[in-house]
Amino acid sequence: MGEVHVTGAKNSSLKLMAVALLAPGKTTIHAVPNILDVSIMAELLRRLGCSVNYSADSETIEIDVPEIIEHRADYDLVRRMRASIAVLGPLVARTGAADVALPGGDAIGSRGLDMHIAGLERMGATVTNEHGYLFVHAPYGGLVGTQVYLDFPSVGATETLLMAAVTANGVTVIDNAAREPEVIDICKMLEAMGAKIDGIGSSLLTVTGVSSLRAVEHKTVADRIVAGTWAVAAAITGGDVTVRNASSEHLSIVLEKLVTSGAEVELTSDGFRVQMDRRPTAIDVVTLPYPGFPTDLQPQFIALNSVAEGSAMVTENLFEARFRFVQELSRLGAEVRTDGHHALIRGRSKLSGAPVEATDIRAGAGLVLAGLVADGETTVHAIEHIDRGYVDFEKQLNQLGANIIRETSPQIS
Ligand code: UD1
Repeated sequence: MGEVHVTGAKNSSLKLMAVALLAPGKTTIHAVPNILDVSIMAELLRRLGCSVNYSADSETIEIDVPEIIEHRADYDLVRRMRASIAVLGPLVARTGAADVALPGGDAIGSRGLDMHIAGLERMGATVTNEHGYLFVHAPYGGLVGTQVYLDFPSVGATETLLMAAVTANGVTVIDNAAREPEVIDICKMLEAMGAKIDGIGSSLLTVTGVSSLRAVEHKTVADRIVAGTWAVAAAITGGDVTVRNASSEHLSIVLEKLVTSGAEVELTSDGFRVQMDRRPTAIDVVTLPYPGFPTDLQPQFIALNSVAEGSAMVTENLFEARFRFVQELSRLGAEVRTDGHHALIRGRSKLSGAPVEATDIRAGAGLVLAGLVADGETTVHAIEHIDRGYVDFEKQLNQLGANIIRETSPQIS
């Protein structure tokens, strides 16, 4: 029981740092969480020629972008953090070229770049894939506005194309664009910088290229996944948690699901409060692009269902390997069967503590939540994954009444 304060979204901050590259001068971004990925992105920007200062106390990052920047994102950084590819669009826009290492596979499945590439090609760029790098070259005179239809509303592809389009010649239309709050956040920062974007928040974005952008100050949107994780923490433990600096609007479906599962959700002036006073009822979940149910909260909901009354079907439509964590959850006694995109969970009245391993950020969070309600001791290994998405996760949980001991220091630089 208690209160937590949510910081800015990881998935927004990292992209906003890449957006900064589009304007020479000093960009200031607030509400940037103190996590490892932010230092990896800061290192990448430094290698491109920027000077970057991060203050963990004020959660503010200052990025000074020179007139002339480099255009290479090295493999050693991209392999550590896939979001590094967010520099692709800005580099082509600013320098006419980008040499960006291919991220390769990661723990949650093969995440393609085909739509990023096809979109840039439609804007006139030539893209080759050699020696593990994508080499992108804009045509003489810069990228050219065009109509791009995305086969799937990919967050990453929408962002790459937006960042490439804002200074392209003419009008770019991105059809079937992603509508995630983090994409809206990027649009808002770009607009403040002088970009012209119509249709923000819709799946049809029309970008009219401008000749240059100016550096600005911006505050990152609140992290809806972290906020949603606290909401599940309250529901799974039969607790009472007030989540501050959170947008209930960005979590409509998620909060609705928790209500269906028996929780009481009250909206507050700067967030919401979740209370649960009984065993949760099992709830079906289908992950979809926003405003659908977020894939980044899928493991936490499987954890919730594993102790719920009844059975539930969870369908994962975005990342095929996300169910890997189910094997770990089974070590705690959860009864989960997976078949392709589907996981069938039969709620158990009790889980039992055991050693488990986090396979990615959200799986790690899901396992910790399950550990909170498992009998005895649960040891979660590979918590560096959790640290990539949550600041002081165990400290905040302990403040809410959990009993968690961290056995390794967080790695933040
Ligand atoms: C982002 C988030 C991730 C979140 C996801 C969905 C970051 C760093 N990560 O990931 O946490 O879970 O959005 O909200 O912001 N795809 C292709 N080809 C492409 C692009 C995507 O096949 O060119 C596929 C991917 O393999 C995946 C799906 O489309 O199956 C979704 O990808 P996308 O929305 O781009 O997610 P990410 O930007 O990778």
